[in-house]
Amino acid sequence: MNKIRVAIVGCGGIANAHANAYRANQEQCELVACADTVPAAAQSFGTKYNCQPFSDIELMLDSVKPDAISICTPPNSHLPLTAQAAAKKINVLCEKPMARNSAEAAQMVDIVTRSGITFMNGLCHSFHGPVNQAKQLLDSGKLGKLVHFYNRFAGKFEGVEQRWFVDPAVAGGGILLDTAVHSLSVFLHLVGDVDAVRAFLSTTLPITTEDSAALLLRGVNGVTGEISCSWVTTPGEWVFRLYGTQGVAEIDYDATPNLRYRLTQGDWVSVPYQGPDRFALEIRHFLDCVSSGATPLVSAAMGARTIAIIDEAYRSAGIARC
Ligand SMILES: NC(=O)c1ccc[n+]([C@@H]2O[C@H](COP(=O)([O-])OP(=O)(O)OC[C@H]3O[C@@H](n4cnc5c(N)ncnc54)[C@H](O)[C@@H]3O)[C@@H](O)[C@H]2O)c1
Repeated sequence: MNKIRVAIVGCGGIANAHANAYRANQEQCELVACADTVPAAAQSFGTKYNCQPFSDIELMLDSVKPDAISICTPPNSHLPLTAQAAAKKINVLCEKPMARNSAEAAQMVDIVTRSGITFMNGLCHSFHGPVNQAKQLLDSGKLGKLVHFYNRFAGKFEGVEQRWFVDPAVAGGGILLDTAVHSLSVFLHLVGDVDAVRAFLSTTLPITTEDSAALLLRGVNGVTGEISCSWVTTPGEWVFRLYGTQGVAEIDYDATPNLRYRLTQGDWVSVPYQGPDRFALEIRHFLDCVSSGATPLVSAAMGARTIAIIDEAYRSAGIARC
């Protein structure tokens, strides 16, 4: 089998997770190039991961002709880079959030559909091993009927006020687009689609976007949900809880193992996990879909759905967005 030739566009923080995950799947792929508009960033990333560096993305796509790219740039470039790749029939794994708003996400769905490329949105928590162990627990009926979904992703993001994450022109919004989008993807994965959402936003930092937020959700199946997130509270907390009529499951990213559950009268039962990390699993799934032509679990439509729910959440908080 020929190896899938991949390139990474955007050589900042998350690009390292992608490079390591491609390396973890090296029997299926080869990281051949990287590109960043900042030449020094591309150069040092190329040296670190032994791939050819470029500062001109079009030149990289035309000369290297990768089979697939990881888009690891800020959100304002996700639509144009996807369009650039799709025009050359290059498959795309695009980091979250898929886009800055629903209008951009809809354009991406259209581009992807017309081109026929494999497109996956990098909502990696749907690939987290313990999240899928919890899904198995839910599907087994052991917890009874699922009634309530709880999630908090929060921790101090030092220096965020100096970064593009708080610039709405680049990021599209604040922590809702950055972090709650992950939580929503897990809600869609474990519970199902969202029927209604209300958001409450708060800002502690001297920025124009929200740095903390709470969402209330109702699933189409009647399951209720609470999601909260913050860039300013400490200590960090990265937790899901799934409340059923016969028991509760908790995924705590800081605990070993992450997943434990408790039935009506029993003690907590820990569920060990020994598999690959979520990035390795996400990228394995992307490579499998590129090979087979199957639609990825986190498809363009699924990514766009998370953005539509975020748009509705902002509307409910009185924030008008394009
Ligand atoms: N899945 C996750 O858990 C996770 C975690 C962190 C970040 N992210 C997402 O990954 C993306 C990148 O975040 P980051 O933290 O790596 O940002 P970063 O600022 O560390 O890196 C972004 C890099 O992209 C480059 N860049 C910007 N525009 C470009 C363009 N048009 N073409 C080529 N290069 C360009 C910048 O020079 C920079 O080197 C964002 O969408 C972010 O939300 C996902």
